[in-house]
Amino acid sequence: MTIEIRSLHDSFGAEVIGVDLSRPLDAEEFATVHRAHLDHGIILFRDQELTPAQHKAFSRRFGPPEIHVVSWYRLPDHPEIIVVSNKKGAEGKPLGLEDAGRYWHSDMSYLPTPALGSILYAVEVPPTGGATMFASMHAAFDALTPERKESLSKMRAVHHFGSRWYREKDKAGIRPPMTKEEEEKTPPVDHPIIRTHPENGRKSIYTGGFTMGVVGMAQDEALEFLDDLDAFMTQPQFVYTHEWRAGDVVFWDNRCTMHHATVYDAQKHTRHMHRTTIKGDKPF
Ligand code: SIN
Repeated sequence: MTIEIRSLHDSFGAEVIGVDLSRPLDAEEFATVHRAHLDHGIILFRDQELTPAQHKAFSRRFGPPEIHVVSWYRLPDHPEIIVVSNKKGAEGKPLGLEDAGRYWHSDMSYLPTPALGSILYAVEVPPTGGATMFASMHAAFDALTPERKESLSKMRAVHHFGSRWYREKDKAGIRPPMTKEEEEKTPPVDHPIIRTHPENGRKSIYTGGFTMGVVGMAQDEALEFLDDLDAFMTQPQFVYTHEWRAGDVVFWDNRCTMHHATVYDAQKHTRHMHRTTIKGDKPF
């Protein structure tokens, strides 16, 4: 079957039609999917049925897995997969992190070598709500004035996992504290605010939900500056909202997109997703 690429939004995002991710892609199929990912930033595959092993095998075609620092919401026996879910197991123990990613962010930007991409597989979805919004940071960069491009390209932002974890913990009250080991593994790191994509050469703005400061700027001023930048990057013309169907797989490029999960009625409905994350390289 030939592969069809159908655009999802004016500036980014595409559906890839005619690929069954449960079996290994041949070289030609892989090249088409890889090209689509680089050209569109996020790619969607509908009607998939994936075991954890098949999900991991597809993910590994793009690079080694990045294991999430927080251990309790890794899928048992599959540490490469994290579970985003409101389902409960024995004795009411959460099977996954229910409030994952409810803020604009690029996955694992808090690592010295942040994630290349993430592959989220929708196992069970609510009838309404629980969409994921995606923003194109390439499109946001392209829309900056030449002066702003120049000034931002001289700046670096500080990213820190723990600051975000505790902010979310205080908001929803469902996250446990991080362990000492998890805190020690995730010290603050800084990255350029404008990064160049290592594979397609395009520039993007690289800040978001784990960004907690700007190198050389007073903290209050930095937070206001980052909020303004976030508001600029997430204007409607840069955003595609994905309404999930069970069996959807979305593979996004963390080097040039941000995403934001939205709420749903977790008392009435189930949302259960599996995510792999692929190791990336140092932003430049
Ligand atoms: C995430 O940030 O990976 C979670 C996204 C989602 O559940 O929509």
